[in-house]
Amino acid sequence: MRKILITGALGQIGSELAVKMRGIYGNDNVIMSDLQAKDTHKDLIESGPFETIDVLDTKKMAEVIDKYNINTVVNLAAILSAVGEKNPALCWNINMNGLYNVLELGREKNLSIFTPSSIAVFGESTPADKTPQDTIMRPSTMYGVTKVSGELLCDYYYQKFGVDTRGVRFPGLISYDTLPGGGTTDYAVHIYYDALKQKEYTSFIDKGTQMDMMYMPDALNAIIELMEADGDKLIHRNAFNITAMSFDPEEIAASIKKYIPEFKLNYDVDPVRQAIANSWPNSLDDSAARAQWGWNPQFDLDKMTQDMLEKLRIKLDIK
Ligand code: NAD
Ligand code: SER
Repeated sequence: MRKILITGALGQIGSELAVKMRGIYGNDNVIMSDLQAKDTHKDLIESGPFETIDVLDTKKMAEVIDKYNINTVVNLAAILSAVGEKNPALCWNINMNGLYNVLELGREKNLSIFTPSSIAVFGESTPADKTPQDTIMRPSTMYGVTKVSGELLCDYYYQKFGVDTRGVRFPGLISYDTLPGGGTTDYAVHIYYDALKQKEYTSFIDKGTQMDMMYMPDALNAIIELMEADGDKLIHRNAFNITAMSFDPEEIAASIKKYIPEFKLNYDVDPVRQAIANSWPNSLDDSAARAQWGWNPQFDLDKMTQDMLEKLRIKLDIK
């Protein structure tokens, strides 16, 4: 039976992953943790075990792992791309030293470890269309540098110490539960909120900028399916390209207009986030994930738009 610790569990992914995992593995077998309890997630925190853990504090993390007999860690504590460019030192410290601490505990305590990587591992010199699984990785952001280094570190702990490390390169994730934590793809979440609230959105990403994206239910399935996959069939382990769709701001706006015809898209491009977006692929080749563990996303752009608008209408109480 898995006993799972999720770090950074109150973020965009963790807040939904914890609920899904508790449904599968049992409420008391999924321990949520984050830097501190957040008022925004009071009900979630009170719904099962929660511990305050800074991933830079190895001693506290080890105590929690022992207290609950943890055998699996999903390490979601991280600083994302846009925040990382504002504070590169913090991004390096949390993304690298936090991961190192988790991996060291994995080696000592024989843990299985899942750590997401990102499309941010790629850079200007990477082939931008149908970006291959194995290709040039020369990122231009501190976030990307930590994600490439993290993939290598996870590979190292598997090869040298036999730690069962696994991971995927997530594209931009779109969800209605918890707002994204400061990335470049966040526009594709905010656009739905503003479409419902004011029938208008001003995008900080320019028209024509294609990026890979995925709806949260597919992302959660990816984590669980890869964690549960037969390890003998995994060749890449820590760095599977996965994607569900690729679009630019005009295409997501066109999808929203099918449900809100008066919706209007404006632009006020942010040069920092635009430069990051320009350095990332237009579309990923995810055939290795499909072949090695059966990756098969369920949501395309229109199906996601319909569900996002339905769920957000309820959340925001908008008729
Ligand atoms: P998020 O920013 O929403 O959440 C991260 C959480 O980590 C926050 O709750 C934050 O409080 C916590 N945290 C920060 N510093 C910490 C520390 N020192 N100790 C413990 N917790 C700390 O991020 P997310 O979107 O949930 O991303 C989770 C993982 O998935 C990250 O590794 C990220 O790089 C990766 N990822 C996310 C996306 C996306 O679109 N959301 C895409 C690709 C990869
Ligand atoms: N959504 C993430 C970001 O924009 C991609 O890793 O930072």
